[in-house]
Amino acid sequence: MSDKQPLPTGPQLTAADPVFREHPHEYLDRLRAEDPVHRDDKLGRLFLTRFEDVRAVVSNRALSVDPRKAPPESYLRRILAANEPIEAFEPSMLSLDDPDHKRIRGLVSQAFNQRAVDAFRRRILAVAKQLLDALSGRNAFDVIAEYAAPLPTIVIAQMLGVDAGDFARFKHWSDARSQIFNTARTPEQSAELAAARQGLDDYFVHAVEERRHRRGTDIVSALVSAEESGDRLTQREIVVTCNLLLVAGNLTTTDLIGNGVLALLSYPDQLVKLRAHPELISHAVEEMLRYDPPVAQTSRVALDPLEIGGTEVKLGEVMTVSLLAAGHDPARHSEPHRFDIERPDTSHFAFGGGAHFCLGAPLARAEAQIAIPLLFERFPSLRLDPQHPIKHKGAPVFNGLTALWVRSA
Ligand code: HEM
Repeated sequence: MSDKQPLPTGPQLTAADPVFREHPHEYLDRLRAEDPVHRDDKLGRLFLTRFEDVRAVVSNRALSVDPRKAPPESYLRRILAANEPIEAFEPSMLSLDDPDHKRIRGLVSQAFNQRAVDAFRRRILAVAKQLLDALSGRNAFDVIAEYAAPLPTIVIAQMLGVDAGDFARFKHWSDARSQIFNTARTPEQSAELAAARQGLDDYFVHAVEERRHRRGTDIVSALVSAEESGDRLTQREIVVTCNLLLVAGNLTTTDLIGNGVLALLSYPDQLVKLRAHPELISHAVEEMLRYDPPVAQTSRVALDPLEIGGTEVKLGEVMTVSLLAAGHDPARHSEPHRFDIERPDTSHFAFGGGAHFCLGAPLARAEAQIAIPLLFERFPSLRLDPQHPIKHKGAPVFNGLTALWVRSA
């Protein structure tokens, strides 16, 4: 009889599983080697782990991102049902296919682009400095709670033109809104989520109306003004987009900063190298995205039968691609589990690819490139606090830390 362990499948491939949550590569490496296009019947999906297969899926514009087009028993529909009745689902561009996706993304890109981010770099630096000033003199703190989490919320609030007086309410709603990804919510958390959703919705409806009369230099004003061939975004489209910018950008950027700081503290030789060569920071951030990506996976629905990596995919099947596994494929990256800020090839799919490539990538990159070096500059002797073991969040899609305690003296 074979003493081989059965391959991990179903709930084992979710953050509910302690091995998958804390040591995902134990499972991902096995799947990639033994069953790279794994039919996960328990959760109603195919689970893909090879670099080239993940590329083929995310770059294929004929596949759908719309969970409403997936069969009711599939993984995508179950995630959707955990949040809201299907009739109430108001998709953002992230869950829309063409032609709606192309139209909305085109208009939003006019407002939210590299230029808007470049103009904001000085403000990002100012926010980072302010947060670090508040930590001065402390010899132990949680990098997530006191730095990596507030930074992107403050930055996006400023970009959206939220008044300083509204900021506390805004921050409370956006924190509560992140519960959307916790499918094991308590009734209290669900109630808080619903209230936050309503609060943000009302807030943005009001902001859109106000900007129609008084344009500013913020993103909401730019979304109100965006126009292409006589086409404009409706009020609902702007409100849904503002919510997306908030939800898609905050947790992910927090996790990029948190995972990146953890990687540098876990590989002191890499930190020494980065200190000696600060110009390596852009490349180092790409390596952080490859090594420990904040979005671990995404999914697509097959609207026609197709073949991926030698496996037939049936009409209506959901493909979940592991962006984490793709970046650690030995067929693409040598010694993939080593963090190396000078690795010549850092190719990754941390921001997806193809038509839905992350619209916030320039902002996320800028925030990490500014925030991470500044933290180590202010706290030159930063090290992990051994009293607080590292714990992962355990969200189904998001790959980050619950806390990152450090000591500086
Ligand atoms: C490190 C931080 C971030 C990561 C890892 C990340 C990751 C991703 C990924 C993987 C996708 C594509 C999902 C798919 O194809 O199914 C995506 C899409 C998107 N992201 Fe990000 N994101 C980050 C930060 C941000 C920020 C800061 C914003 C904006 C404030 C943002 C806004 C968006 C939007 C609007 C989309 C949808 C694009 C579309 O559907 O065309 N993201 N992101």
